[in-house]
Amino acid sequence: MATEIDPAAHNRTAWDRLVDAENEWTRPVPPEVIGRARDGDWSVVLIGYEPVDRTWFPEELAGTAVLCLASGGGQQGPVLAAAGAQVTVVDNSPRQLGQDEFVAAREGLALSTVLGDMRDLSRFAGESFDLVFHPVSNLFCPQIEPVWRECFRVLRPGGALLTGFVNPDLFLFDAEALDFRGELVVRHTLPYSDLTHLSTQERERVFGKDAPVSYSHTMTEQIGGQLAAGFVLTAFAEAPHHNSPTARHMSGYFATRAVKPPVR
Ligand SMILES: C[S@@+](CC[C@H](N)C(=O)[O-])C[C@H]1O[C@@H](n2cnc3c(N)ncnc32)[C@H](O)[C@@H]1O
Repeated sequence: MATEIDPAAHNRTAWDRLVDAENEWTRPVPPEVIGRARDGDWSVVLIGYEPVDRTWFPEELAGTAVLCLASGGGQQGPVLAAAGAQVTVVDNSPRQLGQDEFVAAREGLALSTVLGDMRDLSRFAGESFDLVFHPVSNLFCPQIEPVWRECFRVLRPGGALLTGFVNPDLFLFDAEALDFRGELVVRHTLPYSDLTHLSTQERERVFGKDAPVSYSHTMTEQIGGQLAAGFVLTAFAEAPHHNSPTARHMSGYFATRAVKPPVR
């Protein structure tokens, strides 16, 4: 029952359409959020609605080179730019990047946008960023080992990678029962993918023809993958999935802070 599609191409169109649908992760921040960030009062989310602990960021953001990875939507990138960072946003969806460009133009912010796949950062030289900010998005990517390898390469020694990802246990459940009836029906064996575990018919019926396709990823891929790339984990956080009945029972999101060790 596997479906042959190119996930990056499919998800590019899917996220472009989610911008039209005003999905909450595509809505540009309002001017007052940028105004406050300019005055030093800012926060951004990596997972759900939880502001990231300020200690996860460099003490001084001004002049910090930040790569917002798969982080389009006119949200974190413009806030960090207003707080003084030199921001580059990479995303697979032109419309998502358009939201960042919209906020940057509205607010007179310097911010670069680059259309690309999170697995290939080859357009950036090694050691060109102080921080990679990577909110929940790697569920849309079939392989994440290249993401960790590339993040490690583009970070300067001592730089940090802040990542949000989905608790893979969320993918155990029958999506139709969960989303439409709020019932937790264990159905799938992990690791899960919409393309291998559902027929095309069922996927399109339950999620819609144009919905992004997703992949569960194991904790070995998420945590072990970062460690294997050379990172040292320095902090961990979790949060309930903001709009899922699973939130009553478990955390739906995890976040890690990983550091590229300084050269001795
Ligand atoms: C949930 S949104 C994350 C951005 C949002 N501002 C946030 O706060 O979470 C997921 C993003 O991942 C992007 N994306 C999906 N697959 C990608 C890929 N292979 N490479 C780069 N970006 C990708 C989507 O276009 C989308 O903008």
